[in-house]
Amino acid sequence: MLVGMQQKVNPEKWKFAPHVLSLETSIIREILKFSSQPGVISFAGGLPAPEMFPKEDLKRIAAEVIEKHGDVPLQYSLSRGVPLLRELLAKRASERGTPSKMENILVTSGSQQGIELLARAFIDPGDYILTENPTYLGALQAFNYYRARYATVPMDNDGMIIDEVEATIRKYNPKLIYSVSNFQNPTGVTMSEERRKQLVELAAAHDIPVVDDNPYSDIRFKGDRLPTLKSFGGDEVIALRTVSKTIAPGLRIGWMNGPDSVIRQFEKVKQCTDLHTSTFTQLMVYEFMNQGLAEPHIERIKADYGAKRNLMLKTMDETFPEGVKWTRPEGGLFLWVELPEHMSAKALFDKAIALKVAYVPGGPFFPNGGGDNTLRLNFSNCTHETIVEGIGRLAKLFKDNA
Ligand SMILES: Cc1ncc(COP(=O)(O)O)c(C=O)c1O
Repeated sequence: MLVGMQQKVNPEKWKFAPHVLSLETSIIREILKFSSQPGVISFAGGLPAPEMFPKEDLKRIAAEVIEKHGDVPLQYSLSRGVPLLRELLAKRASERGTPSKMENILVTSGSQQGIELLARAFIDPGDYILTENPTYLGALQAFNYYRARYATVPMDNDGMIIDEVEATIRKYNPKLIYSVSNFQNPTGVTMSEERRKQLVELAAAHDIPVVDDNPYSDIRFKGDRLPTLKSFGGDEVIALRTVSKTIAPGLRIGWMNGPDSVIRQFEKVKQCTDLHTSTFTQLMVYEFMNQGLAEPHIERIKADYGAKRNLMLKTMDETFPEGVKWTRPEGGLFLWVELPEHMSAKALFDKAIALKVAYVPGGPFFPNGGGDNTLRLNFSNCTHETIVEGIGRLAKLFKDNA
């Protein structure tokens, strides 16, 4: 009976808000449908390597959390997050050059929720957000929901081209500056120290908050860790962090680090959204970090992803045809390829699938269009064998279609 009733329902007749109907599903999710076909080597996703998940430790800690913390992990808790975890996150930030107190920390359900809360709190339809061009697709999806517009600043190998920022601010009067300053998704590019300083100075002069979305800075294979935007900009900067790439994304633990007065505003917004992030997984992350397991685990991740990154770059150096350019990220999960102007990564995608290899065409990462000749490759979620074989297939694709 119920089944029959369900068949009669026509959701198109229901009065969804127009902005929900006009939302596009993520191109990455669409592409993942193709790339999960049997035999396809996929560089498309952005997933951590599942074999790196610290399963044994997390299994033990899951039991310990109930044994040690009693009813607390199973009970409702504060919207700001579990104090034990917030205190520890503030201490760790302070040790890494960003002086912080627990009042500065709001625990979020992944850093994606931090982005969503920012959009919810700041953006009225038509407001501008200043972003790198290209930028993280998940942020664009969250911002698009609130009908933001984009004031974009091009990038080079040192990140956002700062010389263009002031004119862009004057022209568009953005409400937020959104940057992925370390090993950016999608390009793998890191903003230079000099530009970090310049960006926060400009933002402060114009009273615009800077959002530093930073999931990747701990996964550095080469070179020295750079001071964070927040270590230069202090209260002018809201940092978004997450354990998704350093422990496991399924835990859905991220956090926002901002001035206490600002965090108080976000606490209200968070309360409307989901009351609080899972108390249970907050305490799991607290135990994982407090037991000193995070650092050695990150070292293992760096060794694994670093070797894959080196092999991918080496294979590209050896096989990709002239005219194709790519970034050489010192950390993170992604690198970025630029084909000659006349080639379209989107148009080539079907041929890539026919060759059983997948990537993400770069166009959707450009909020105002363009970038048709670009594409993103992920190196964390494949094996050494599939990197060599898959890059070889891409090299053939690019040569045959040059
Ligand atoms: C730049 C950036 N921000 C945020 C996220 C979302 O991460 P989380 O799992 O913490 O929500 C990602 C995930 O890939 C990302 O690349």
